[in-house]
Amino acid sequence: MPSFHNYVNGLRVPADDYQENINPSDTADVIGLFPRSGPAVLDGAVSAAQSALPSWSATSPQVRADLLERIAAGILGRAQELGDILAREEGKTLPEAIGEVTRAGHIFRFFSGEALRMSGQRLDSTREGVRAGSLREPVGVIGIITPWNFPIAIPAWKTAPALAYGNTVVLKPAELTPASASALADIIHDAGLPPGVFNLVMGQGSVLGDALAHHEQIDALSFTGSERVGKQLAAIGAQRLMPVQLEMGGKNPLVIAADADLDIAVDCAIQGAFYSTGQRCTASSRIIVERTIYDRFLERLHAAMSSLTVGDARAPGTNIGPVVDRRQLQTNLDYLAMAPAGSVHGGELLELEADGFYLSPAIITDVTNSHVTSREEIFGPIASVIRAESYEDALSIANDTPFGLSAGICTTSLSLAEDFQRRADAGMVMVNLPTAGVDPHLSFGGRKRSSYGAREQGDSAKDFFTQVKTLYVRP
Ligand code: UN1
Repeated sequence: MPSFHNYVNGLRVPADDYQENINPSDTADVIGLFPRSGPAVLDGAVSAAQSALPSWSATSPQVRADLLERIAAGILGRAQELGDILAREEGKTLPEAIGEVTRAGHIFRFFSGEALRMSGQRLDSTREGVRAGSLREPVGVIGIITPWNFPIAIPAWKTAPALAYGNTVVLKPAELTPASASALADIIHDAGLPPGVFNLVMGQGSVLGDALAHHEQIDALSFTGSERVGKQLAAIGAQRLMPVQLEMGGKNPLVIAADADLDIAVDCAIQGAFYSTGQRCTASSRIIVERTIYDRFLERLHAAMSSLTVGDARAPGTNIGPVVDRRQLQTNLDYLAMAPAGSVHGGELLELEADGFYLSPAIITDVTNSHVTSREEIFGPIASVIRAESYEDALSIANDTPFGLSAGICTTSLSLAEDFQRRADAGMVMVNLPTAGVDPHLSFGGRKRSSYGAREQGDSAKDFFTQVKTLYVRP
């Protein structure tokens, strides 16, 4: 059984305790033993990041750009192998996993270029003979806490901008999916990043996440995960007056307007609700359908659902992999049990050859928007299908949620599409596309209870990973 170790100050450091990383497609398959670290390891990682900071933040941006480009090439060159590890530990299908790895490579490539674009401003002061302006500087040591559902893309989209802009990093990946983060650490090491600039500490979120947020030498914290943990981290950050960036839940609406192209609408619903086993904060978990096409849409959706193959994440022909673990599976079943009688279609536990956490995709039809299954994020292959009287009704249902990450509409009307883009109360709006699936070079983030602090990715990333210094000079 292979053992994997923390990566601190350029070295693999053994931990006191280890735990198994299990394949959700086949619980008899153990990927390896991974550290269950205590706060002492974290201390070492944070001090390594602190020591590395002065020289890393002073490197030429070209040096940082070149290193990030080497990391990008390392990831893209191993996309098949890393995709296989990712599918094996997380349970998304192999094509989805390879796609995610490719996305991670492209993120490093994008931020390689961004290292050279840390631009400031030059202005004349209002005072005679005084010049003024601003520049951007790194923030310091960044603590990064990432979820299990994108085990390499989310570590990449937080780590790449942190490094590009001259910060150093301590990454704590999800306990359920440490293998992808560990492979990323190998690639970063092989690219020749100086020791201490990037550190990886593996273990339980409840122990390490808390310790990281409380660590006096962490200058900022970026987190993606649950709202419950996000609130705790925000409270710790507020206490310390430390910048915190949080990406949390979603209950994303996909509106199917009466004039929608049904092929596109069904495709968006299937992809948005069920791909990646519905385990995305951007999943289309509320499908809001105008009354006049409700029956026709539902018939088509049923037909499309019945052609989906649930199976081993790495088997050819699988459309939907297993749920990530037993606990998440139980959560999904608990929500299905709360649904109104007779409203659940699908959502069966499947007995396949291997012992995995298999659940068939489910819809809860004709459910109200106020039902608990339409309010709370489930994080499984489950979507509510809600009937709307009109477009206006659909829009108001879409916005009636505590979350605001992504919102979508399927329509053939340009004016409806425009109207929805303006009035949807969400951080990202999609037209004739699933609510999930985003590009690496555009700003990512939500509103209301979905996000907190500066947005991620694209040119928004610098709002969190740099700080502005204003300059005045009398030459
Ligand atoms: C996507 O939909 O492509 O945790 C990305 C999540 C999000 C990422 C979604 N932060 O699901």
